[in-house]
Formats: sequence, structure tokens, C-alpha cells
Amino acid sequence: MIKVLFVCLGNICRSPLAEALFKHKIKLESLSHRFEVDSCGTGDYHIGSQPDHRTIKVAHQNGVEIFHACRQLKGDDLDYFDYIVAMDKSNHSDILQWSTQKIHEEKVLLMRNFDIMQTGTEVPDPYHGGDREFQEVYSILDRCLNGFISHVKLKHSL
Ligand code: 4NP
Repeated sequence: MIKVLFVCLGNICRSPLAEALFKHKIKLESLSHRFEVDSCGTGDYHIGSQPDHRTIKVAHQNGVEIFHACRQLKGDDLDYFDYIVAMDKSNHSDILQWSTQKIHEEKVLLMRNFDIMQTGTEVPDPYHGGDREFQEVYSILDRCLNGFISHVKLKHSL
């Protein structure tokens, strides 16, 4: 199993959408059985909550199913997962606060590094935005995940 964890701050907007869209894409490629996929937040504000209603709306508008209960990042995640994908630089540095070994640092990746358009370095936090910001996050994640999936497929000869 290739284990992938998507991480943002609240785990109700960006990372559950990344998780849902990643699952959607690998299902289309008949690769679901090769992956374990999850998401979490560095913060503890929304533990146990469903994704934000605007996240659910933008997922459904784009034909993507989404189910997730918010959880917070824990130290074990750095051992357990193979790829830990952060939405922005502050998530990235917060995750590394949990790191105890050099190998952890190599697992922690920045989502926008897989964006073929390279129009920004972070997946912007849409929490204080509206439908437009959520659709923009969806479009960014769609591009980045295509790049990330190609990267993983190459690494694992899938
Ligand atoms: P996310 O967005 O990190 O993409 O889930 C946020 C959701 C909630 C908060 C911040 C960001 N918050 O401060 O409650």
C-alpha cells in the first residue's frame, strides 16, 4: 500500500477536498487498491466535523464524492504515511515540528510543487472566501494532483 496524507490547517476545506479528488482520480485509473489516503489538519478547531459546506458543494459540482471527519495531525502520521502533502508553507513547517528523523523531512511535500502552471507557491486558504475561492482551490488541486499522481506512478512503476 502507498500511504498518502493531505494536510492543511483546519481539515475542513483544502485537505479533505484534496483527499476526495485524489481518491476520485485513482479510482478512474483503477488504482484505488494500491493506496491508503487520508487527510488531517495541523489545528484542532474542527475535530470530528464534516467538511465545510462550501467544500462539499464544490466537490459535488465537479462530480466528486466527499466523506471525511476532521482529525488533527499526530506524531505517528510522520512514521506511518509515505507522502505527506502540505497545502501551504505554514502547514509544511508546522508538520516538520513533529519530525524526529531526517526521513520525515523527505516525505513532507508542498502541493504547489506539482502544479504544472506554477502560478503560485501555495494552495490559498479559502475559509474567508466564497464560492469563487473554493472553485479556484478546486482548479489548483485538480492540476497539482495530476502532477502528484504522475510523480507517484513513476516512483512506484504503476
Ligand atoms: P483549511 O481552511 O485549512 O483549508 O481547512 C481553514 C478552515 C478553518 C480555519 C482555518 C482554515 N479556522 O481557522 O477555523
